[in-house]
Amino acid sequence: MKKNNIGVIGLAVMGSNLALNIADNGYDVAIYNRTTKVGEDFLATNPHKNLHLYKTMEEFVDSLEKPRKIILMVQAGAPVDKVIESLTVLLDKDDIIMDGGNSNFNDTIRRTQEVEERGFKFLGVGISGGEEGARFGPAIMPGGSEDAYAHVSEILEKIAAKKDGEACCAYIGDNGAGHYVKMVHNGIEYADMQLIAESYSLLKNLGNFSNAELADIFNYWNQGELESYLIEITADIFKVKDPDSDADLIDVVLDKAAQKGTGKWTVEEALNTGTDASLLASSVFARFMSAQKDQRVFAEDLLNVNLENDVEKNQELVEKIRQALYASKIIAYAQGFDLMKNAAIEHDWDLDFSSIAKIFREGCIIRARFLNRIADAYTKNPKLHNLMLDEAFKNTLIDYQDSLREVSVLAIKNGVSIPAFTNAIAYFDAYRQGRSNANLIQAQRDYFGAHTFERIDKEGSFHHQWGEVNED
Ligand code: 6PG
Repeated sequence: MKKNNIGVIGLAVMGSNLALNIADNGYDVAIYNRTTKVGEDFLATNPHKNLHLYKTMEEFVDSLEKPRKIILMVQAGAPVDKVIESLTVLLDKDDIIMDGGNSNFNDTIRRTQEVEERGFKFLGVGISGGEEGARFGPAIMPGGSEDAYAHVSEILEKIAAKKDGEACCAYIGDNGAGHYVKMVHNGIEYADMQLIAESYSLLKNLGNFSNAELADIFNYWNQGELESYLIEITADIFKVKDPDSDADLIDVVLDKAAQKGTGKWTVEEALNTGTDASLLASSVFARFMSAQKDQRVFAEDLLNVNLENDVEKNQELVEKIRQALYASKIIAYAQGFDLMKNAAIEHDWDLDFSSIAKIFREGCIIRARFLNRIADAYTKNPKLHNLMLDEAFKNTLIDYQDSLREVSVLAIKNGVSIPAFTNAIAYFDAYRQGRSNANLIQAQRDYFGAHTFERIDKEGSFHHQWGEVNED
């Protein structure tokens, strides 16, 4: 019997689409789902000569060529551990388990150790692109032992999205590195979405643009440097009519944003690694605030401050918002890449930021023309401290920061909440400040807790009796 090249466990949306993608690329794929009916239904609607469904895990495992390569596409968390438990009793030394879900990188570090101690290989594989990406080419971020990656690189790179002939899949680093990069991708995804939503607030509430006009604006923006998947789908969204009423669909969608947790993990990691990711954090907090719908409705009248809308609806405003959005986008990515840089030091990962930016260029949710510029920046200088310091980004920021300031002031004056934009300008100003206000924080710490301080003019740790003020 001819053996299958690879196996996929878990046939929900992502698993079934990924299996079809691998099968389309000419590989024989063994598929298995805990509830066989799910697999049967999937095959009934998607018959494929390269897909082979097995009813038991034993048959599934037996059908695979060695070393076996198995991708888990099951819900992140405990289900992954459960499947690994039942799978490993059936595997042979050097067989490879890949976790393709949105697992927390800490779990991936633990699982890598546990699984490899037992003689198997483990890869934590970040996969982005939703249903469509899984089916026709996702961005793939594999982490784990390089040796294990060598066995699966051909398949993963074949099924990945392509940009200028290059696969959007490359080895990321040891143990949890792949899932870490996927997590930061999601943190950036939250920021991109929040910045677009804030641009929508500004255009709608200050500029009074209609949905049809908004569709045109986003469509126009998508022809230039903001070109990206998220801008493109935003333009589409404004054109959709509600099938149940005369309204545009966007106007009947409830303004409460859900989340599955990867954005929150990114912010937790910013705190753990001591990274200023305030813009990314503000995007997660904005989702929390959006969820407080009842309180917001209650406060709307109670905290009404009657602000005048003194803004003129014109092209100049649209261009300022576009520039503010692009400048903030640079800052969001500067924070995301800074977080990865700090994590690389903490976890001893040798991350290649140019390669990571290239992976993000196609297939994933944050895919954008802009990613080429990030790849160029890190190709020129792999040790770049912060994206804002790259010559090209520096010039754009200097050109556009004025618009970011103007738009932020306008929003604050008119009572439009834009936390991501305002965090962007605050981060930019904080980062370019040679002398900050933290001398005062240090003085206060030393005053109330004798925590000591350093001086600008000599080495060492100093303490002062601050309460004894010199009166003369
Ligand atoms: C992707 C996405 C995906 C994520 C959704 C929803 O890269 O394909 O990041 O992994 O699950 O975008 O995320 P939230 O529910 O947290 O918004």
